[in-house]
Amino acid sequence: MTLTGKVVLVTGSARRVGRVIALAFAAQGARLAVHYNTSAGEARKLVAGIKTLSGADAEVFRANLLDPAAPKKLADAVAKRFGAIDVLVNSASLYERESFRDADPAVWDRQMAVNARAPFFLAQACAPWLAKSGDGSVINVADWSAHRPYVDWASYCASKAALLSVNKTLAKALAPGVRVNAVLPGPVLSPEKMGEAEKRRIADATLLKRLGTPEAVARACVFLAGADYTTGAELSVDGGRLIA
Ligand SMILES: NC(=O)c1ccc[n+]([C@@H]2O[C@H](COP(=O)([O-])OP(=O)(O)OC[C@H]3O[C@@H](n4cnc5c(N)ncnc54)[C@H](OP(=O)(O)O)[C@@H]3O)[C@@H](O)[C@H]2O)c1
Repeated sequence: MTLTGKVVLVTGSARRVGRVIALAFAAQGARLAVHYNTSAGEARKLVAGIKTLSGADAEVFRANLLDPAAPKKLADAVAKRFGAIDVLVNSASLYERESFRDADPAVWDRQMAVNARAPFFLAQACAPWLAKSGDGSVINVADWSAHRPYVDWASYCASKAALLSVNKTLAKALAPGVRVNAVLPGPVLSPEKMGEAEKRRIADATLLKRLGTPEAVARACVFLAGADYTTGAELSVDGGRLIA
């Protein structure tokens, strides 16, 4: 698939990993739908940057994915603005820690809503446009810890495991016209307040003994968008963390 002129919707792309994914698609000449929830200034800055970088069209779209009605409204707004949706990258995510003892149903519901439910319904709403594309695809950004959960991150890990199930369901539901794949990052971008000692400990827990980069995740997303005989797959970008 040539990405030039294709319309790529990347959720949660105002900042951090999602931003780098959006920039990687823009570098291929894609038109970008930059979705954000609270990071309006960063989203607008990114759109301006994309226009300068590649000259490709780009636009910001706000949606709070906790709202069950948001996925359909977001897909409709993107399709109305661009007249197409060729690639959907579900990268927006909530990452909330809670100990086993203090686990709270409200935290579960939030993470399930943003990390698993929203990607499913966004794909459902984008499906007619993805089918029309001819080589449409969905890329779900999960996490290696979907397969090996941490006790203190139970609901986050469960939501990412649910996303891997959604990945397979969507691959079946949207076949043969639309491909659906997942990227499973390892530690590619630390939370902003994490100290150096903690980062070293996390890097040492990988086979490669180093932290990854958002660019590695972005390259995997661009690869999967063009991987024309791959669907329902899970691509680890985790430095070997899953099998360490
Ligand atoms: N960082 C890592 O090392 C790592 C490791 C494994 C997996 N991953 C996965 O890679 C993806 C990107 O990682 P990241 O660290 O960049 O993620 P992040 O910073 O935790 O979150 C990305 C974006 O999700 C959006 N978001 C959160 N709640 C939302 C809501 N209710 N509605 C709409 N958007 C919402 C936020 O947008 P606004 O800022 O606009 O509110 C946020 O900027 C995630 O799926 C994450 O699980 C990352």
